[in-house]
Amino acid sequence: MKNLIILFLAIALCKAVLINVRNNVPRRDTEGNILNAHDGSLIQFGDDFFLYGSAYIKCHQFNPTCDSCGYLNNTFAIYHSKDMETWKLITKSCVPEIEKDNNVINYWSPNVAYNNVTKKYVMSYWSSQYGFRSNHIAMAISDTPTGPFKVVPPIEFKGGSISSTTVQIFPTSSGKAYVRYHTRDAPLRHVIEELTPDWLKSTGKFSVFYVKNEYPWYEGGGMFERNGKYYAMIGTDCCFCQWGGDARIFIADDPVGKWVELDQINKCSNGRDPTYTGISQPINPCSVDDPYGTNFTIPSQQFSVSTFNIDGEQHFMYFGERFRSSPDGIKPNDYQAWIPIEFDSRDRVLPLRWQDSWSMGRK
Ligand SMILES: *[C@@H]1O[C@H](CO)[C@@H](O)[C@H](O)[C@H]1NC(C)=O
Ligand SMILES: *[C@@H]1O[C@H](CO)[C@@H](O)[C@H](O)[C@H]1NC(C)=O
Ligand SMILES: *[C@@H]1O[C@H](CO)[C@@H](O)[C@H](O)[C@H]1NC(C)=O
Repeated sequence: MKNLIILFLAIALCKAVLINVRNNVPRRDTEGNILNAHDGSLIQFGDDFFLYGSAYIKCHQFNPTCDSCGYLNNTFAIYHSKDMETWKLITKSCVPEIEKDNNVINYWSPNVAYNNVTKKYVMSYWSSQYGFRSNHIAMAISDTPTGPFKVVPPIEFKGGSISSTTVQIFPTSSGKAYVRYHTRDAPLRHVIEELTPDWLKSTGKFSVFYVKNEYPWYEGGGMFERNGKYYAMIGTDCCFCQWGGDARIFIADDPVGKWVELDQINKCSNGRDPTYTGISQPINPCSVDDPYGTNFTIPSQQFSVSTFNIDGEQHFMYFGERFRSSPDGIKPNDYQAWIPIEFDSRDRVLPLRWQDSWSMGRK
């Protein structure tokens, strides 16, 4: 009887967590402003969620793909939430040093991981100081998830000589971390490279998981770890396009081992495969003759995968930017697509499905 009472008490005390995610309404902070943290990552540390991203200036993009809007004067913002619905702006300036030259250098894609050996939060981000110029990846560190992050010397990678548009840190459950990037020097390679224990230098070990020489380039994407396997994703280059990018997924037993392609999980919304013409922008691969025609199923470009642990259960989320989706045309007001990555009973990854709302955890 006593055991039974303890059991009931334990169940009653065990706080149930239900996380609701909505994609069909603008996400606002506690001040009522639309979240302005783009092309970055949404990361869970403990029971807290942090959104890291570029805060764009209030510009209006006029073309179907990129013009100058979103390129300059970006800062990096952090928002915090306990439930992924109520968001509080922590700072619009979490890497103050980039603001010295952000009027001439492009900054995008902050991703953050926690190294429990050095007790540092480690950020990788894209900087035009290195992108298209050299084999470096910009890095910054902080003692807390909320910054400020201090710029440290860039990682010099070995798997190529010039970086292209994707850079991303990927921590694993073994305590090792990797960077994923792609090269601008031919052939265009997508590479995963192992980092030293402080996650601030390359060990020189790397693996190439995808090679392509012509358009579309692949970029964006994300990584995750599930049941002892590693997954890497990439998508077509999109350049702030409104139709989005595809989502190809690869798997490996070891991040610097052999990779195998699994599937395409974001086809065009009419069910067809995208058509690649060998030309990049401004061709919509789901509607070659009309940039405003059919879009991808998830009409966004992927920037990362979030891994959540909710009530002891793992969840994976595709994090994408719906460029040019804001009703007022103002770039910082664009929507994001936060879409669950789902698996069948045989562990196969299912095609992504648009979902206005979905949830994790239990009532
Ligand atoms: C960026 O900021 C600088 C300094 O405030 C300003 O002179 C410049 O016009 C801005 N550039 C853009 C593209 O907004
Ligand atoms: C540090 O992280 C690794 C990898 O996630 C984990 O195995 C280890 O238990 C952690 N150590 C501490 C002290 O938290
Ligand atoms: C594709 O997206 C654009 C921009 O949001 C929109 O104008 C267009 O109607 C969409 N196409 C279809 C077929 O839904």
